[in-house]
Amino acid sequence: MSYAEAYAQWQADPEGFWAEAAQEIDWITPPSRAFDPEQGTYGRWFPDGVCNTCWNAVDRHVAAGHGDRQALIYDSPVTETVRRFTYAELQTEVAALAMVMQDHGVTKGDRVVIYMPMVPEAIFAMLACARLGAVHSVVFGGFAAHELATRIDDAAPKLIISASCGIEPGRIVAYKPLLDAAIAEASSKPAHCLILQREMELAAMQPGRDVDYTEAVGAAKSAGRLAECVPVAATDPLYILYTSGTTGQPKGVVRDTGGHMVALKWTMAHHYGIAPGEVFWAASDVGWVVGHSYICYAPLLHGCATVVYEGKPVGTPDAGAFWRVIQDHKVAALFTAPTAFRAIKKEDPEGALIGQYDLSAFRTLFLAGERSDPATVQWAEAKLQRPVIDHWWQTETGWPMSGNPVGLGQVPVKHGSPGVPMPGYDIRVLDDAGQPVAPGVLGNIVVKLPLPPSGFPTLWNAEARFRKSYLEDFPGYYATSDAGIMDEDGYVFIMARTDDIINVAGHRLSTGAMEEVLAHHPDIAECAVVGQADALKGQMPLGFYVTNAGVARDPQELERELVQLVRAQIGAVAAFKTAVHVPRLPKTRSGKVLRGTMQKIADKTDFKMPAAIDDPAILDEIAGALKERGILR
Ligand code: COA
Ligand code: AMP
Repeated sequence: MSYAEAYAQWQADPEGFWAEAAQEIDWITPPSRAFDPEQGTYGRWFPDGVCNTCWNAVDRHVAAGHGDRQALIYDSPVTETVRRFTYAELQTEVAALAMVMQDHGVTKGDRVVIYMPMVPEAIFAMLACARLGAVHSVVFGGFAAHELATRIDDAAPKLIISASCGIEPGRIVAYKPLLDAAIAEASSKPAHCLILQREMELAAMQPGRDVDYTEAVGAAKSAGRLAECVPVAATDPLYILYTSGTTGQPKGVVRDTGGHMVALKWTMAHHYGIAPGEVFWAASDVGWVVGHSYICYAPLLHGCATVVYEGKPVGTPDAGAFWRVIQDHKVAALFTAPTAFRAIKKEDPEGALIGQYDLSAFRTLFLAGERSDPATVQWAEAKLQRPVIDHWWQTETGWPMSGNPVGLGQVPVKHGSPGVPMPGYDIRVLDDAGQPVAPGVLGNIVVKLPLPPSGFPTLWNAEARFRKSYLEDFPGYYATSDAGIMDEDGYVFIMARTDDIINVAGHRLSTGAMEEVLAHHPDIAECAVVGQADALKGQMPLGFYVTNAGVARDPQELERELVQLVRAQIGAVAAFKTAVHVPRLPKTRSGKVLRGTMQKIADKTDFKMPAAIDDPAILDEIAGALKERGILR
């Protein structure tokens, strides 16, 4: 079947399309219908199906006689370790951990926060939650204590699974002090913490609360105490993944169980063109949606081996790291963010290191998470001599909204475009009044409801925010908050966010959250953070601040304090390095800060003088301050 046929088949009968895809999943009780438009806010998928995600990702393959097949390859250049797990070994690790969790009171529906570096135990933890019907919420290791505390308070976990430390090139990141500080700050306290002690930095344990992961799971394994899979409704939540919103309060994107499996399994064969038994590598982190979908769930649902990589594209030890991993593990498809390729290209512009490795198993490179600039895509195509596929998606959807379905026979690549709509997505471009725009005209990108399987049914504990953020502006559509165009051939082009989210090294960050942190500094009267274009990371946050009347601080010293504040509150991942003192912020007459204009000044792109600007002279002051700080020449 071609892409055009698959898309037409879905258009003609969406429910039939997904009912057929659902046959690829083992159900405890198969759903009697694919979709119920009356349930939930915009309908629910597989409303009466009963299933278990861990069964489908792990046990099913063992039961089918594939217990000896490799399931997980842990490759960690930062610890010089490689460990491999077969499906049978994965089953034992996960079932024993699930038993330990059960021993500590975790049952179906309970939330479990996972705050882990890229180690196999992070995947075991996710799958063990799925096994019990517990709802995991993975928090990215680069977030600091306050961000973790916010998520703990919202999810109210019974248990937290964490590790003593993570390893960044050149430094050990002690996780446990951050975890302890987060629990101290949070008003919702977990009963227990299961801590993986890593030898590079052992954590101090709190008696009564903290449990040693290795000891507890080891004891369960030696006693043969293994938990079984718990049946859950297809509409029960599998996980909550917090993502940046317009305020400091992150949004808890809820993923349900059945639809998620059906959609992800479909993508492996059809979008990624991968067969069971092959090796799939998503070089991301379990803390992001890419890690949830394509490090953990999709490859395992499909019976592939997944690579868990604890390293970077460069510096661990060099820009050949990705090629070494592809060679050593016979990786068939690599999925990463364009920023990783920009980093490799910067260090090895000729791609000389590529030739030093055997990439014969490698077929396709997939890029997502941020805009793929044509120069980077062309470089990767030329150096790898393989298809380079850009695809576009969000935490909210869990799988690509647009892409290039390699498994259905690739459509022609257009540089700068993340491809064509996937079956399940009726993508439209509307103006601010909700009217369709002509092909090639910039507008708001929306998706006609209902979202396909795996699309989020709500935000955790925040149904009103769900409706307001996503459904109210364009009734009948899901608002993606991305602006872009669709061309005559139906290709999507993503140009910018319509909210205050910026994309730094493929990481989705809220400038609003950074502003909230800066505003807490006692010397700051007001501030604004914008995303400045960056050749490596796509964007970097750039802060502007106005001090309180009578404050005469050394700007360098104050900048250091503000940078430190963001690092301590949000985390290193915010990559907040620059705060510029300005006498005033440019505003409209109604007092709205003109962030877009400030961003254009910093990027040296053309802008129209905003009609409602209060005092145009302030824009010159901004440019002057940027020049003085060496940001503008
Ligand atoms: N735990 C603790 N700290 C972390 C972390 C983690 N899991 N991940 C990143 N950090 C820290 C980094 O050490 C860095 O700290 P620093 O300011 O002290 O140097 C900071 O957070 C910013 O990290 P990052 O933006 O990733 O920059 P980098 O300079 O370390 O690396 C790249 C740059 C391009 C190599 C890197 O961003 C990369 O590999 N990106 C791949 C893209 C990706 O995985 N995207 C996920 C979505 S698909
Ligand atoms: P996240 O929810 O962290 O995956 O971030 C989603 C956002 O990243 C999207 O709304 C886009 O702004 C951006 N994004 C993801 N993939 C792409 C892509 N292929 N091209 C352009 N932007 C992308």
